[in-house]
Amino acid sequence: MKGSTSAKLFILSACFFNSVLSIDTLTATQSLGSNQTLVSPQNIFEFGFFNTTISKWYIGIWYKDFPDKIYVWVANRNNPLENSNGTLKIEESGNLVLFNQTNNPIWSSNQTTTSATNPVLHLSDDGNLVLKEAQEKNNTNYIWQSFDHPTDTLLPGMKLGWNLDTGVEIRVTSWKSQDDPSSGDGYFSLDYHGIPDIYLWNKQQRVFRSGSWNGESFGGVPILNTISVLNDKIVADKHQAYYYPARLFQSNLSRLVVNWTGSIERYAWIESTKTWNIVWNAPAVDCDHYGACGPFGICDSNAFPICKCVTGFSIKNQGQWNLRNFSDGCVRKTELECGKDKFLHMKNVQFPDTRSVFVNKSMNLLECESKCLKDCSCTAYANAEITNGGTGCVMWNYSLVDMRQFSEAGTDLFIRLAASDVGGTGSSGGSKKNAGKIAGITIAIVILILGVIIFILWKKKRRQKGNTNHSGNSDRGQITLLSEMMFSNSRDTSDQRNIDELELPLFEFHVISDATNSFSLANKLGEGGFGTVYRGRLVDGQEIAVKRLSTSSGQGNVEFKNEVRSIAKLQHRNLVRLFGCCIEKEEKMLIYEYMENNSLDSILFDKAKSSMLDWPMRFNIICGIAKGLLYLHHDSRFRIIHRDLKASNVLLDREMNPKISDFGIARIFDNDQTHSNTMRVVGTYGYMAPEYAMGGYFSAKSDVFSFGVLVLEIISGMKNRGFHFSDDLNLLGHVWRLWNEGKALELLDSSFADSISESEVIRCINVGLICVQEKVEDRPIMPSVVMMLNSETASLPQPKHPGFVLGRNQGETDSSSARQEDSNTINQVTVTIVNGR
Ligand SMILES: *[C@@H]1O[C@H](CO)[C@@H](O)[C@H](O)[C@H]1NC(C)=O
Ligand SMILES: *[C@@H]1O[C@H](CO)[C@@H](O)[C@H](O)[C@H]1NC(C)=O
Ligand SMILES: *[C@@H]1O[C@H](CO)[C@@H](O)[C@H](O)[C@H]1NC(C)=O
Ligand SMILES: *[C@@H]1O[C@H](CO)[C@@H](O)[C@H](O)[C@H]1NC(C)=O
Ligand SMILES: *[C@@H]1O[C@H](CO)[C@@H](O)[C@H](O)[C@H]1NC(C)=O
Ligand SMILES: *[C@@H]1O[C@H](CO)[C@@H](O)[C@H](O)[C@H]1NC(C)=O
Ligand SMILES: *[C@@H]1O[C@H](CO)[C@@H](O)[C@H](O)[C@H]1NC(C)=O
Ligand SMILES: *[C@@H]1O[C@H](CO)[C@@H](O)[C@H](O)[C@H]1NC(C)=O
Ligand SMILES: *[C@@H]1O[C@H](CO)[C@@H](O)[C@H](O)[C@H]1NC(C)=O
Ligand SMILES: *[C@@H]1O[C@H](CO)[C@@H](O)[C@H](O)[C@H]1NC(C)=O
Ligand SMILES: *[C@@H]1O[C@H](CO)[C@@H](O)[C@H](O)[C@H]1NC(C)=O
Repeated sequence: MKGSTSAKLFILSACFFNSVLSIDTLTATQSLGSNQTLVSPQNIFEFGFFNTTISKWYIGIWYKDFPDKIYVWVANRNNPLENSNGTLKIEESGNLVLFNQTNNPIWSSNQTTTSATNPVLHLSDDGNLVLKEAQEKNNTNYIWQSFDHPTDTLLPGMKLGWNLDTGVEIRVTSWKSQDDPSSGDGYFSLDYHGIPDIYLWNKQQRVFRSGSWNGESFGGVPILNTISVLNDKIVADKHQAYYYPARLFQSNLSRLVVNWTGSIERYAWIESTKTWNIVWNAPAVDCDHYGACGPFGICDSNAFPICKCVTGFSIKNQGQWNLRNFSDGCVRKTELECGKDKFLHMKNVQFPDTRSVFVNKSMNLLECESKCLKDCSCTAYANAEITNGGTGCVMWNYSLVDMRQFSEAGTDLFIRLAASDVGGTGSSGGSKKNAGKIAGITIAIVILILGVIIFILWKKKRRQKGNTNHSGNSDRGQITLLSEMMFSNSRDTSDQRNIDELELPLFEFHVISDATNSFSLANKLGEGGFGTVYRGRLVDGQEIAVKRLSTSSGQGNVEFKNEVRSIAKLQHRNLVRLFGCCIEKEEKMLIYEYMENNSLDSILFDKAKSSMLDWPMRFNIICGIAKGLLYLHHDSRFRIIHRDLKASNVLLDREMNPKISDFGIARIFDNDQTHSNTMRVVGTYGYMAPEYAMGGYFSAKSDVFSFGVLVLEIISGMKNRGFHFSDDLNLLGHVWRLWNEGKALELLDSSFADSISESEVIRCINVGLICVQEKVEDRPIMPSVVMMLNSETASLPQPKHPGFVLGRNQGETDSSSARQEDSNTINQVTVTIVNGR
């Protein structure tokens, strides 16, 4: 992998007098001094002596020939040598021993089996230092291996956890500081008592919890599941409980580190930039901190404030809560009455701490409920695993700590409440049996009365307000015209102020609230990474879609207005029109035109509806999206990179014309993130270009990648993520194989087979594949894409291997990873959204 073989290297090194000598195996008769190293067969890892600025000497393993020496293993971390005059030997007992200058043993592998006859020490290409019998071919039968004794790093193939027969634990412990490998305060350790769960500890405190293992993944880190493509594994039975981290992006060059700074970091080597990039780290957001919201509090990174009490509970210490100290959590409003209690059904939550729960893997949910109800100390229950739609039973009998609310991931949880507290507000209703008929009727009547009252109030208000707000259709028409004039003649500065005010219709909160029936559930259209979308109708009958932004962004109103204003100026027939915004109190909302046919994904991926889309329509949609994107990238006054192009962000109007939505939102959210110097990686796995997903580098070419994925989805009617097709890893892999076998037409969604133009389809598949090529520089820019789509004569380049051909099960997870923003530009590709002002 890294060039010459070790044999060559041996000769090469031996030629240089006095230089470090590298070998790949150390025999019992040899010894290793500080002028020698052991190198793995393919030159990936190196083992030997090293010193740090604290002037102590260690033996350890590092990546050979990589920039920055990264030590993945240190043998004598707590017993350093004072100088370089140390020797490593294999003793007759089969022990590996490090001696110091005066020949005192400093460190030993402490191997107790003494049966070794001809032991040798070997460093393998996965970074494992093994002591084995020279003639032993079986590569699992080691006398000793460094993989069983990690320091601060887990490499692919290493594990974390417990041997339950011997009680021996394998954990990773941070260095003390950047230059001191001795054991620091942070460590990462598996808890297997209830449900397997990994805790990051620092200074004797739990800092972060991975979220209970749900049979497939860790509940608390949905994004990680998508990145490691679910190769993270837990093996737990009577004898063992181990966690095996996956290769990130299927690369051996990945590692998990507990940093001395107190966080876990997962790195992947990016060959194109020759850097180690942090793919995931924790704790990264406030909700990552263990128990951030206290007992019976639930944390939601997208909410403001991030903590709230579970329905049926109230804030215990309002004073501290107001100061954003949520640690006291929440208390019950009504005491429990054991047998008479009910259960609150919560969705998409991360399980509370499962350290000492009751678990029975063969009980079903009903048995679980009745067992919990009978046991008066039971506070909640749930399915233990999500496999097969939910199996097993888990029961809590203590305070529920460290719950999180997700919008898509997470599991169902049933929390015990006094009967009178169940059936409150929001999406969490009681368990099915709870709402009796009487309750139902009562609620219906109350809603009816409320509705009438609201309607009367609304009528009254409307009469009082007259036409003074900016929600009227005529107003908006003028504003649009004005802004179009501005657009074409932006140097005209006369009366700039007035016009600027007009350019951005500001809706009053009550107008939007009325239009959406007070943001009623019935009006809810969907939920995305940035907030919830509601359907509404203004007084004049104009239909609107309202995006209520999650209030977690601390952006000021002025900046918000500026951003919305700039985005509102973008107009194109393939972009959804932004009518204006609403800023009031903590609320920030964007008002869009409403689209009759909803989003592309709701039709494309729906078996019943997809036949509505024949080939001419699909081709029109592909071309429309391309034109919209071309406008954003090249023709608009501000260069906008969408960053989250996907089927659900393409809306269809009455004539099935595609319109891109959510453009520029990343820009609004980015602004406030810049001072904290962290960047929210927005986007959706399955559509994200590899360089963006892995390194956070994004450019117009990352949008081109997403566009390519979308094209192939439109042609095939299949989703790239969650794609199952014989042995193919995902849709891209599937298309790539068909293409190379000359069977590209097999990709077609069978529902429109008779309406096709073969050459158009082939051209579209070709363009799609060109757009998803792995290398950024190979992908075309949007003007070329539009040209290629529309030219029947142009000869298209042959696509190269697509990027990101990952495994199955890439859940659709919206942005949720925060990471350091290391650099703004790469390969001179412009990053973020370049501001034209
Ligand atoms: C390494 O150094 C030791 C003494 O420090 C010496 O005996 C040995 O020959 C050296 N080995 C090489 C390969 O230079
Ligand atoms: C290791 O020690 C040598 C001399 O003993 C010194 O020159 C070098 O700077 C040290 N390396 C580090 C990383 O401190
Ligand atoms: C290592 O040992 C050699 C010979 O025993 C001696 O000359 C040298 O000074 C020692 N090095 C250090 C750093 O003590
Ligand atoms: C070698 O180790 C012994 C025992 O730990 C210690 O007493 C001695 O000072 C060490 N010698 C050197 C040169 O570090
Ligand atoms: C080896 O065993 C000795 C004595 O039992 C102990 O003091 C030492 O810490 C052990 N070393 C390692 C590396 O486990
Ligand atoms: C990764 O390591 C495994 C095990 O050592 C090896 O079989 C595989 O070939 C390696 N893959 C690459 C791409 O180097
Ligand atoms: C290698 O050793 C392990 C453990 O002793 C044993 O289970 C396995 O069958 C062996 N494999 C081969 C190929 O000999
Ligand atoms: C720990 O974090 C610091 C600061 O972010 C970084 O410079 C360092 O490389 C990290 N250490 C490891 C072992 O990853
Ligand atoms: C938060 O509140 C708890 C209990 O009221 C208190 O012990 C703790 O010191 C507070 N933490 C901070 C950071 O103020
Ligand atoms: C809670 O459940 C655990 C596991 O079933 C049990 O060991 C413990 O005694 C229970 N505690 C209470 C207070 O019921
Ligand atoms: C788990 O539940 C099943 C079915 O209710 C029961 O037969 C079994 O004994 C339970 N196992 C344990 C360990 O409680």
